[in-house]
Amino acid sequence: MSDSSHDVHVNLGDRSYDIHIGSGQLSQIGSILITTQPLSHAVLITDENVTEYATIVAESLAESGVNVDLLTIAAGEPSKSAAIAATLWEELLSAGADRKSMVIAVGGGVVGDLAGFIAATYARGLAFVQVPTTLLAQVDSSVGGKTAINLSSAKNMVGAFWQPETVLIDTDVLKTLSERDYISGLGEVIKYGMIQDEEFFGYLEDHVFELKARDPETLCYVISRCCRLKADVVEADERETSGRRAILNYGHTFAHALEAASGYGELMHGEAVAIGMMCAARLAESLDRIDGTVTARQHALLQAVGLPVTVPDLGIDRLVELMMHDKKVEHGQLRFILPDRIGNVELVDGVSQELIRAAWTG
Ligand code: GLY
Repeated sequence: MSDSSHDVHVNLGDRSYDIHIGSGQLSQIGSILITTQPLSHAVLITDENVTEYATIVAESLAESGVNVDLLTIAAGEPSKSAAIAATLWEELLSAGADRKSMVIAVGGGVVGDLAGFIAATYARGLAFVQVPTTLLAQVDSSVGGKTAINLSSAKNMVGAFWQPETVLIDTDVLKTLSERDYISGLGEVIKYGMIQDEEFFGYLEDHVFELKARDPETLCYVISRCCRLKADVVEADERETSGRRAILNYGHTFAHALEAASGYGELMHGEAVAIGMMCAARLAESLDRIDGTVTARQHALLQAVGLPVTVPDLGIDRLVELMMHDKKVEHGQLRFILPDRIGNVELVDGVSQELIRAAWTG
């Protein structure tokens, strides 16, 4: 059962919501949801890898008297397409979904982004709940209301900000997550320490053994802390207009180029972010914003949890070229999120191409 002391409240006025974090959340979802609102129909969107979890969620809802339709998509990034979105809209129509229906995403980032987009658009917007089943989705993509599908050559290019009503994080699902998926999620966890919280970074350094062993108590605390840190950013800049939300993209300009150059799916997102954070730290060092001890501590922690830290041989020219196509490029200017110490980052522009190239080479 959940220990509510780990729960996080996201304060966004009339779009506020709670993130429930703990063991055993999946089988409690029916009773959790019906205490806050009447609910008669839910459409669960899931992928073929996590139907076991979606079934637990469906049974719990049915026990609470909710009619459930279960829609299963193929696992993987290609499902975040306009074609699959169109199929899902038609399936919602066939299932009789109306403005009172709720969409529930059970899965990782792909399912969450796609189901959120469906919820944001079908019948001009349905209530939405996130049940993230990967560490990466639990600490990042399920919180903050970003939903999206991809265009053929641009990731997340079509979407909407659509906040969930609730996020339910069941730490039990992490027990069966593949080692690579789990470690990839730790890349985003370490990112929060670097960008916002030096004490949390120190906690992670002191708990590498527990993290690697997926110790339940450590995980509850870590996920809760990451969600709180993300909620702080989202509360300050829900729609990424003031620049504050951009701090969550620390390491990501490098990471997106790595993901594009290696072919999506070759490098996991958290792995690319780990390498990207190393590039960003080197860039900050070359601009005299940090000294070598910051880069060294980041390197040591990433490596200790098993994340990659060296740039694969993909050709610097190509990587620099890909960076220039990043969605975050404004008027031809690359902007970087760079640390000035552990626990704080700033938006920096006007960085020379030479220093960018040097940051790739290490
Ligand atoms: N994952 C970055 C954001 O939610 O803004």
